[in-house]
Amino acid sequence: MKITIFGTGYVGLTQAACLAEVGHTVCCIDIDERRIAQLNQGLSPIYEPGLEALLLSNLSAGRLSFTTDATEAVGFSKVIFIAVGTPPDEDGSADMQYVFAVAHTIAEYSRESKVVINKSTSPVGTAQRIQARIQSALSKQGRDLGVQVVSNPEFLKEGSAVDDCMRPERIIIGIDGEQNIELFREIYKPFSRNHEKLIVMDSRSAELTKYAANCMLATKISFINEMANLAERLGADIEMVRKGIGSDSRIGYDFIYAGCGYGGSCFPKDIQALQRIAGEAGYQPLLLEAVESVNQRQKQKLFDNIRRHYNDDISGKTFAVWGLSFKPNTDDMREAPSRVLLESLWAAGARVRAFDPEAMHEARRIYGEHPGLYLADSKEEALEGAHALVIITEWLNFRVADFGLIRQRLVNRVVFDGRNIFEPEQLVREDLTYYSIGRAVSG
Ligand code: UGA
Repeated sequence: MKITIFGTGYVGLTQAACLAEVGHTVCCIDIDERRIAQLNQGLSPIYEPGLEALLLSNLSAGRLSFTTDATEAVGFSKVIFIAVGTPPDEDGSADMQYVFAVAHTIAEYSRESKVVINKSTSPVGTAQRIQARIQSALSKQGRDLGVQVVSNPEFLKEGSAVDDCMRPERIIIGIDGEQNIELFREIYKPFSRNHEKLIVMDSRSAELTKYAANCMLATKISFINEMANLAERLGADIEMVRKGIGSDSRIGYDFIYAGCGYGGSCFPKDIQALQRIAGEAGYQPLLLEAVESVNQRQKQKLFDNIRRHYNDDISGKTFAVWGLSFKPNTDDMREAPSRVLLESLWAAGARVRAFDPEAMHEARRIYGEHPGLYLADSKEEALEGAHALVIITEWLNFRVADFGLIRQRLVNRVVFDGRNIFEPEQLVREDLTYYSIGRAVSG
């Protein structure tokens, strides 16, 4: 099937590569000319495992193309996905200008009936609003084309986007009016393999499903972080509590890892957006407010531990920081807990020697030549002359550490671990003082 996709961010690009990989012919359009030029050479603008290989093979197989030309893209197919960004507005609500701009482009260049599928995370009622906008634009021009707008939210995770897209747990289709389900069966058949993954509902329920899923996951994280803070005060070990509650299949082991807070482009934005949506519907979302406040406090936790350890005497000290991205396997630093820590350390007069396996260029882009930031070539180099080590992102290759070297290089032999990647006894044996999350300070 021929498919057009508006937007070449995480969602649009991954979706395009995966749809091409299973045999569809996909035309992607973006307004960013540099990005499109880069993509036409098979270069991925984002770090995402497996993505570049899919781009290259499908480009050369002729199943994938990239353009900035709206006439070409809209004319290419009857089926058009919208996967452009919905960044937070100043007040926390989703900024819908890019989605609606695409709706207008579709209306302007359509010469036949279209099915428009919105993948961007958008407020409840957006599919209906897109439908109304396209229809009114068409009727102003005296044109009458059948356009159906469908909500099809995306659930992929950064760092495993290709895998999530190739093996989805569910595919949510939100359709109002005449249900053209066969089209979606055909698009998604290769992804349904052993059993039907499509769950069909109305568009408003589909849109709320997306927010509800992310907010539920964020709730799990803030809940375990709250328990971790309690565990520290009560002399309990959150890692034991995690195993204890995770073994209850109704709770499950996933998304109950205590840490220094959730970040990324989705959870913080969606928690805020759903609060706005609730407010507009005249409802005060007490739980969502609490999830956000707990997370904001949690992002300060590493700094609070550091400040407490040094009795507020941080000025002039240097901290080695391992991990800058908001989670492993991505170079994304949006809303990353690392940014809160770096900025708090600088405000307190400290310096940072940071290392991240993928996010160094992103750190450079965000902070430029900041006098308080040295970007090290390796995790070992980051330790040189530092007073203490702070671990923010649980990259796999941080888990095996040369404690002898850490001991030798750190002036104060203290490790602040925001992701509980080590065992406290291990660090005691290594003669290191160890602060983690939800466990007693050791050493
Ligand atoms: C999230 C959802 O997991 C996806 O299902 C969704 O499609 C996506 O948002 C989206 O809306 O586009 P993502 O933001 O890529 O995906 O990252 P996650 O793996 O969910 O991690 C989010 C944050 O939670 C990270 O900072 C991570 O460190 C933190 N986290 C996660 C914890 O602190 N503890 C946990 O147990 C799990």
